[in-house]
Amino acid sequence: MEKKYLKDYKKPEFLITTTYLDIKLSETETIVKSKLTVVVNKEVMNLSKNLTLNGTDMKLISVAVDQKKLSTNDYKISQDCLEIPLNSDSQKSWVIEIENSINPKTNSSCEGLYLSGSTFCTQNEPEGFRKITYYLDRSDVLSVFTTKVSAVKAKYPVLLSNGNLVEEGNLPNGEHFKVWHDPFPKPSYLYALVAGDLALTATNFITKTQRNITLHLYCDKGNEHKSHFALESLKKAMKWDEDVFNLEYDLDIFMIVAVDAFNMGAMENKGLNIFNSSAVLANVKSTTDQQFATVESIVAHEYFHNYTGNRVTVRDWFQLTLKEGLTVYRDQEFSYDIGQKYVKRIEDVKRMRDYQFIEDAGPQSHPIQPDSFIEINNFYTSTVYEKGSEVIRMISVIIGKVKFNEGIKYYLKKYDGTAATTEDFITSMEHVSGKNLTQFRNWYHQNGTPKLKIESHWNESKKTFTLKIEQIILKDQKPFYIPLTYSLLGISDKNYEDKVLIVDKFKEEFSFENLKTRPYISLNRNFFAPIIVDYNYSQEELDYLMKNETDPVNQWNVTQEVLKKSISNLVSNGLSVDLIPLAGFEAILNNKTIDNFFKSSLLLMPNEVYFFENGYSFEKVWQAYDFLELEIAKKFKNSFLNIISELQKAVESDANRALKNRCYYYLSLLNDAEIENAFFKNMVNATNMTDEIAAFNLLCNSKNRELKNNTILAFEKKWSHDQLVMNMWIAAQASVYSQNVLEEITKLEKSEHVDTKIPNKLRALYGSLSHNSRTFHSADGSGYMYLAKKIIELDKINPSVSSRLGNAFTLFNKVDEKRKIKMREACELILKGQVSKNLYEIVSKTISV
Ligand code: ARG
Ligand code: ZN
Repeated sequence: MEKKYLKDYKKPEFLITTTYLDIKLSETETIVKSKLTVVVNKEVMNLSKNLTLNGTDMKLISVAVDQKKLSTNDYKISQDCLEIPLNSDSQKSWVIEIENSINPKTNSSCEGLYLSGSTFCTQNEPEGFRKITYYLDRSDVLSVFTTKVSAVKAKYPVLLSNGNLVEEGNLPNGEHFKVWHDPFPKPSYLYALVAGDLALTATNFITKTQRNITLHLYCDKGNEHKSHFALESLKKAMKWDEDVFNLEYDLDIFMIVAVDAFNMGAMENKGLNIFNSSAVLANVKSTTDQQFATVESIVAHEYFHNYTGNRVTVRDWFQLTLKEGLTVYRDQEFSYDIGQKYVKRIEDVKRMRDYQFIEDAGPQSHPIQPDSFIEINNFYTSTVYEKGSEVIRMISVIIGKVKFNEGIKYYLKKYDGTAATTEDFITSMEHVSGKNLTQFRNWYHQNGTPKLKIESHWNESKKTFTLKIEQIILKDQKPFYIPLTYSLLGISDKNYEDKVLIVDKFKEEFSFENLKTRPYISLNRNFFAPIIVDYNYSQEELDYLMKNETDPVNQWNVTQEVLKKSISNLVSNGLSVDLIPLAGFEAILNNKTIDNFFKSSLLLMPNEVYFFENGYSFEKVWQAYDFLELEIAKKFKNSFLNIISELQKAVESDANRALKNRCYYYLSLLNDAEIENAFFKNMVNATNMTDEIAAFNLLCNSKNRELKNNTILAFEKKWSHDQLVMNMWIAAQASVYSQNVLEEITKLEKSEHVDTKIPNKLRALYGSLSHNSRTFHSADGSGYMYLAKKIIELDKINPSVSSRLGNAFTLFNKVDEKRKIKMREACELILKGQVSKNLYEIVSKTISV
C-alpha cells in the first residue's frame, strides 16, 4: 500500500479562495453543489494542466468551469480523484461548479457526512471532506466557506454550519434552509455541518473587551440536564485563555454539538465543535468524577484549538503535533491551574508511562513528527498528542515559562491565518529566548523513550557528590537535549533545590562540591522530561525518599518504585510475605496531613503492563499482584474500614470519594460476604455515579455468582435508558478477572445495548477486552483469536475503530514464544482478507518487527 513521505511535500498549485456550498440533506441521497473560486498559487512555478481534486464514495452529477458545463470526456474521474483541465497560461482564476450526491445512511465510517442516530453530522479531520464533495482536501488550502443547508423542517429543525447565521427561510414541501458564513479562511478539515431535532442549552460569555459571545450546546432531547457542566467548563477555558495567553474568542457565537456516533473524543471545527456525547454530557447522577474531569479538559482542548489549530493551522499532516501537542499542553496547564494540580499531573504522567512509553517501545513507535505514513488516521496517537505536549513542556523548562508564554504569543501572531510547521514553532521559541534549540529538535525526529542510566557517588573526604549519566537511546540516534530537573534533598541548601541539569551528551558527569553531608537525589522532578530514569535506589535511599521527597510527582513515583520492587521480588523469589516491605504503604495510609485525592493516587498499584513490557512472565505477574494485593487487604483491613467510616461522616467531595473507593477496592479482595453485601447497598443507595459504578465494578468481580447476576440486572434495569451509563455497564463486564469472559462478551454482543455503529460501544466491549490481560493474554491464544475475528468484522464497518483495536497486539515482541505464535496467527488471519489501509498499516507493522 502507498506510503506518503514528509520529504515529498509540495505546495499546492491551485488555491480555493472562496467556497460556496449548497447542501440538500436527505438520508440516502444528499445533493451537494459547490461553487469554488480557484486561483493559481503564485508561489508555485510550472503548474500542471489539470486541477486534481480529492473525492471518494460519491456520485458525480456535473462539472462546470466558468459556467460552461463539461462533458464526461472533458474531465477524468477515478476512485479517489477528479481531474479538471485548466489552462493556467492564459488564465489565473476560475469558477468551478460541481454537483454530486452522497449517501450518509450507508456511511458507517463516522467520517465525512454521516448519520449519528437521526442526526446528520460531519467529521472531516484529517481527510473526511473528500467524502462530501470533490475538493483540494489538504490543510494548506484555506478558503472562506459559506453554506446553504436545507432539509425537511419537521425532522431537522436545527441546521448548523461554521460561522455566523446570515440568512434563513422556508422552502416548498415542508423544507427550510439556513445560510452560514464563516469569515475566517480555513482548511476543509475544519468544516462542519449538523442537522437534527436537537435540544438547545444557551448561555453567554463576556470577553475581556466586553464582547458578548453566544454559547450554544445542542444535544439529543432529554439530555438537556447534562449540558450545563460543559458550558461552565467552556467559560472557564475562555477566561483562562484570555488571562494566560491574552487570546480572545473571535466569532460572535460558539456552538457545541453532542453526538453518539463519533470516532474520537471531539473535533474543533471552527465555531462549531462536534463532540462524542461521552466527552461532553455530564451530570452527577450519571457521570463519574473522573468523567467530569475528562469533559472539562476536552471542552477546553477543543476551545483552545481555536487559536492553536484553527487560526494557525498545519501545513500538512506530518505537522499534526504542532497543533495537538501544543493544544494538549494548553489543556493540561489549564487543568493544573484550575484544579488539583498534582493529582492531575500524576494522572498525566501515568498516562505517559502506561500508554505512550509502551507505544514508543512497540511496533507502532514513531517520532512526534513522523516522516511517513500509510494512513494518517493511525497517527492520532499518544505519542503525537501526549509526548508532543511533554516535548513542548520541556521548552518551557529550558527557556523559562515567561519567555515561553511570550513565544506562544509571538508564534500565534506571526503565523495567524496561515498553515505552519513545527519548525515555525521552534524558531519562534528561539527568537523570543535567544536560545539555540538545534539539538532539541531531535525530539521531533527521533522515536523511542530515552533512558538515562544514572549512578551517584559520594566522596566523603572531598564532600563531593557526583552523578554519572548515560543516555541509552536507539541505534544510530543522536543524543537528546534533556532538561533534567533535580533537587539535592537532606542538606537544606536552597541553592540545590528545583534546579535543571542539561543532559545533551551520551555520557556525562556532574559534580556538586563542598557539600556538608551526603545529599539524597530527587530526579526528573514533576516528570519534566518524558524519559525513563534508571537509577538503582538503595533501600536506604528509598526509605529516605518515601518520607522526605518534596515533589509530589516524585513522592508518587517513589511509592510506585517500592511497589514495583515488591512485585519484582515476588516474581523472582516466590510468593512470600517477607519480600514485601509494607511500612511505607502503612505510613501513607495513616498520614492525616496529605490530601485524600493525593493519598488515593499513592495507594494505587503500578500498572501491570510495565512488567509485561519488560518481559516478565504473565502468570507470575498475575500471581504476584494477587498475592501482594491480598496481603495489603488482609493486613490493613481495619485501617481501610476506619478510613471509610470517617469519610462517610465527612463532607462529600471527589477527593473523599476517590480515597473511599480505593479502600473499598482492597476490601473487595477479601471475598467477605458481609463486605459484599455492603457494596450492594452502596450501589443501590448511591447519590452519584462515582460511588455507584465503583460498587458495581467490584460486584462484577464477586465470586458469588448470584450476587453478581443480581447486580448486573439491577443496574441494567435502573440505567437502560441512558446509553452513556450503559457503556460502563458493558465495560465492567468485559473487564472482569475470571474465566468465561469471552462467553460473557458474546452474550453482550447480542444485547440491545451494543450497536456496532457506535464506536463507544465497541470500545467498551473490545477495548476493555484488550485491556483485560488475563483474558486477552490467556495462554491458549483464545483472547487473541477472538479479538482478531471481531476486528475483521468491524473493519468493514469502521476502519478507524478496527485499526485502533489492532493496537491491542502491541506487546507482540515482548510476550513469550508461545503467545507470540498465537498472536502471529491472529494477526495473519487479519491480513489474509481484504483489509482497510488503516488496519493493514497497524497489523503489518506489528508482525514485521
Ligand atoms: N482534532 C481532534 C482533537 O484533537 C481529533 C480529531 C481526530 N479525528 C480523527 N478522525 N482521527 O480534538
Ligand atoms: Zn486536539
